[in-house]
Amino acid sequence: MSTQQSEKEFFDHTYDTNARKSVGQVYSLIGNRNKAYEDLIYSNVEGKRVLEYGCGEGSHSLEIAQRGGLVTGIDISEVGIRKASEAAESAGVSGADYQVMDAMNMDFPDNTFDVVIGEGILHHLDLDKSYSEISRVLKPGGKAIFQEPLGHNPAMALFRAMTPKLRTDDEHPLLHKDLKLAGKYFGNTEFKYFHLTSFGALLFLKFPFFYGMVNFLDKVDAGLFKVVPPLGLLSWYCIMVMSKGQSD
Ligand SMILES: C[S@@+](CC[C@H](N)C(=O)[O-])C[C@H]1O[C@@H](n2cnc3c(N)ncnc32)[C@H](O)[C@@H]1O
Repeated sequence: MSTQQSEKEFFDHTYDTNARKSVGQVYSLIGNRNKAYEDLIYSNVEGKRVLEYGCGEGSHSLEIAQRGGLVTGIDISEVGIRKASEAAESAGVSGADYQVMDAMNMDFPDNTFDVVIGEGILHHLDLDKSYSEISRVLKPGGKAIFQEPLGHNPAMALFRAMTPKLRTDDEHPLLHKDLKLAGKYFGNTEFKYFHLTSFGALLFLKFPFFYGMVNFLDKVDAGLFKVVPPLGLLSWYCIMVMSKGQSD
């Protein structure tokens, strides 16, 4: 079975059954990271052509359309795309269009989008193919903004090994070499790392001080990454901002 077919089957089932909602606990860590991502993807979208790459059930596309962006969402999962379209229709949003499409072989002409965004999608794909496709459909001067998990931290590898039903066989949380590879396709790359010591806050999830602790440890992490930059690679997640220069 091709990786595209196995990803499609896994996510069609996941979206049909809401299977991923059960891991909500670990995801209670992500508030500050999501805010940093949303600040980037929601700024200046009015009138812009935005592609949400691997949008699943809609992810951030609806909000972008509500802010005046002309958004196209693509995903390999027919169930995800159906749910995303239904959500846009029931919200009465007209600037959002959803299509079932392989992210590594897109139908769009070159230089179509001002911005390409995506969350938790690159690590499901062949990176040479997907970076090349993203760069191809971005207009000169356009920007790609992603948030993706990293694969160097042993504690996070253990968490993944303990939750195999939540993931596909093709997933490969990104490594240093994968971040470096982005430089081959984009003139400029910037990476911001999240969740190293803050991952430990999960031990205190049931306590009322949990969210205060996460906020504090997120600040500790930001300080650590500033003083010892390579520690960023041991974190759980990375926000990637890749821009295409006029001649890329
Ligand atoms: C972890 S989910 C993230 C979904 C969405 N970005 C979100 O944050 O809710 C990964 C998504 O990648 C999609 N996907 C996997 N392989 C794909 C491919 N070759 N082309 C397009 N989408 C793909 C899956 O169907 C799934 O919706």
